[in-house]
Amino acid sequence: MDINKEVICVTCNSKLTKIKNDVGDDGIFICNSCDDLFPIINSIYVMLCPEDAFYNIEYNFFIKNEKFLNKNNLFYRYKKRLELIEKYSINQSWEKEDVKYWDSKYNQRSIISASEIKPALKIGGIRLYRRNKYFFNKIKEILKQKNITLLEIGCGEGDTVLNCLNPYYYNYYYIASDYSFNALLYLQNIYKGLNNVQLIQCSGSKLPFADNAIDAIVGLGILHHMPKKEEELKNIIPKISQHGYFMTFEAFVKDSKLPSVFKNIYDKWIEPDKSAHEERIDLKNFIRISNQLGKLEFIKYEHTPLLTVLNKIFGKYINNNLVLTKLLFILDDMVIYSIGKIIRLFKPGACYAIIKKAGFL
Ligand SMILES: C[S@@+](CC[C@H](N)C(=O)[O-])C[C@H]1O[C@@H](n2cnc3c(N)ncnc32)[C@H](O)[C@@H]1O
Ligand SMILES: [Zn+2]
Repeated sequence: MDINKEVICVTCNSKLTKIKNDVGDDGIFICNSCDDLFPIINSIYVMLCPEDAFYNIEYNFFIKNEKFLNKNNLFYRYKKRLELIEKYSINQSWEKEDVKYWDSKYNQRSIISASEIKPALKIGGIRLYRRNKYFFNKIKEILKQKNITLLEIGCGEGDTVLNCLNPYYYNYYYIASDYSFNALLYLQNIYKGLNNVQLIQCSGSKLPFADNAIDAIVGLGILHHMPKKEEELKNIIPKISQHGYFMTFEAFVKDSKLPSVFKNIYDKWIEPDKSAHEERIDLKNFIRISNQLGKLEFIKYEHTPLLTVLNKIFGKYINNNLVLTKLLFILDDMVIYSIGKIIRLFKPGACYAIIKKAGFL
């Protein structure tokens, strides 16, 4: 894939032209339709419209690239963009409120490189086992037939792809995207020098790709961090090519509430809220929209309160222990199919889903 020909302007959806800087890995994408500009900072494509962009990041680029911008007659054009970003920055947006937490969490720099994480034959742990089983094994099958482009939305520190489908060892094109710039700086050290990986800072609600441009998209625990929750499927699924997939893991709202004394324990000790927005998706609406825009090909429920508690207590011991991982999931399934059927509290609270984009008739 020639990513430079695929990315589009998030402000007006037109094609972009890339101008490369001769110094370092910076450069810029320009939109000749709406005059917007999108900087490349340390090889990371910053594809945010002025409403969503971060002033400090772009101001630093502006100062560092003054000569380059002048040489290409872009100095005043970029200054105009900066003024707009500053104007919008006065109000903290919903998305920026959320990403503040993630930016601080990802503030450490990685010291591993992708080549050090060899593909494991067996992947255990509550977080990775089923992601690998349901999503990445399926992608590995597809890769035997054809080379694909995989876009990850809200990749964060990207440990799932690194462990389950490391682009250093698998032949495909990986686009890792997140709204947090620090997440991408972190990943940059891991994937430095790989020409089948591109890091993009963008909002999951405004992906810089034309409709039908991407073979498969993966989003792991991200819809509930986006303002419109499951309604965001409407911004994501159109980007997938015909017969392509959106693979997602999400927690959903349950129709039961813990008694307040347990709720306090749960919120304080079991799952303390993290970012500003930890609300969940509406499952019924998620299924309805999935079938409207494509076909919900697969859904697997998990996470009864039993799994939550066992994972909290034993989580660190079962990482990479396949037997214990499977045992915990068997217990979880047993609860789902027994008392989960009778008592609402013991129902599952999360699901893995694969939505297939409908083909032309
Ligand atoms: C719960 S973390 C999941 C990270 C990763 N997918 C994983 O499974 O470990 C949510 C991620 O979504 C990102 N995020 C939050 N709001 C976003 C938005 N509007 N668009 C794209 N990414 C967003 C955050 O920066 C964070 O990295
Ligand atoms: Zn434009």
